[in-house]
Amino acid sequence: MPGPLEGKHIVLGVTGSIACYKAIDLASKLTQAGALVDTIMSYGATQFVTPLAFRSITHRAVVTDTYDSNSEYSIEHVALAHQADVVVIAPATAHCIAKLAQGLADDPLTTTIIATTAPVMVAPAMDANMFDNPATQENVDTLKRRGMVIAGPAPGRLASGLMGMGRLLETPDLLGYISYTMGKDADFKGRKVVVSAGGTMEAIDPVRVITNHSSGKMGYAIAEAARDRGAEVVLVAASTSLPDPALVNVVRVRSAQDMCDEVLRQVKTADALIMAAAVADYRPASEAEQKIKKSADDLTIELAKTTDILEAARGNFVKVGFAAETQDLIPNARDKVTRKGLDLIVANDLTDPQAGFGVDTNKVTFIDGDLKVEDLPVMTKYEVSQCILDRIHQLFPA
Ligand SMILES: Cc1cc2nc3c(=O)[nH]c(=O)nc-3n(C[C@H](O)[C@H](O)[C@H](O)COP(=O)(O)O)c2cc1C
Repeated sequence: MPGPLEGKHIVLGVTGSIACYKAIDLASKLTQAGALVDTIMSYGATQFVTPLAFRSITHRAVVTDTYDSNSEYSIEHVALAHQADVVVIAPATAHCIAKLAQGLADDPLTTTIIATTAPVMVAPAMDANMFDNPATQENVDTLKRRGMVIAGPAPGRLASGLMGMGRLLETPDLLGYISYTMGKDADFKGRKVVVSAGGTMEAIDPVRVITNHSSGKMGYAIAEAARDRGAEVVLVAASTSLPDPALVNVVRVRSAQDMCDEVLRQVKTADALIMAAAVADYRPASEAEQKIKKSADDLTIELAKTTDILEAARGNFVKVGFAAETQDLIPNARDKVTRKGLDLIVANDLTDPQAGFGVDTNKVTFIDGDLKVEDLPVMTKYEVSQCILDRIHQLFPA
């Protein structure tokens, strides 16, 4: 099963902003992810970077002229518009946004936009005053009303030296927005999915914690996959070094109790809960107010059981748990399905080097509410996520 961008036809529109250089990185990352990237540059964009840069990175022709008699396409603007899975404009100037709002078609990019039925994502980049200008704001609103996805801009330091709203989003966020734009009307549209990720941290004293090796990668992959199928996603994230995925509502928590409180709050309005976090089963019975000094040879910490979040979370939603085990994987997982009233458990064997903590792949076994077992092959965590979402979708009421 491919990643979200594999084999997709992406038209990348580049317009005359100082942020054009970042579009080269975007074209590169899209190509590395398996997308077929056709670049269309405005005249303004060619003043900042050359078509050669995009052609070299994407290995595909770059369009700069509507009337190019040497073009490989018979009617270029229509050909690219028709084959596109998504049209992305990054960076989008104030001028380009204004032309789109007016429905103008006076260059290859705006003509392609008028001719396409593919979803369109626009990533503005400009000086803060240009973005704040009522004309630009109204034009952006017009594009939103027509169903285009507006990605950014981000606040920060602008090329003018001023601080303000106008920076082009960074490449990882643009990639997230592009995947979302392609799937925004897919089968999870209108569904709320709550995902937990990472390892909880249980305080011993103000400087020490008990935690585990969870990287958060599995939960983050599920959150991104659900976003890419149109879901509203809340990611309740304990300790992890991963950056927030674009268009996912990330709520950071520390302890098992914090995670429990947040998950129980979020599931009241959820269609599905997927607990991929490694939640501590025990926490120090009390947290020392001051840092514990090194004195005696031995130190005993009394532990108390934490609340089982999956058991506590009851309601009208599809409930999916994970079982990471080092022994007796299937019997332990089956027991969890019954005890916690789960619709599906995703069991992974931590002794397998292609599964579990830190790695990008996983090898899992599904055990459903009827205790039926299905072994899946080694896949990326994003692919495993898609399989989990397929199962969840089957369980949604019609
Ligand atoms: C150095 C320089 C930087 C510019 N940066 C931006 C920018 O970031 N955003 C923007 O909207 N316009 C910017 N402009 C102005 C546009 O290039 C100008 O409005 C142009 O008409 C845009 O045409 P296009 O949208 O067809 O590329 C810049 C101009 C110059 C000379």
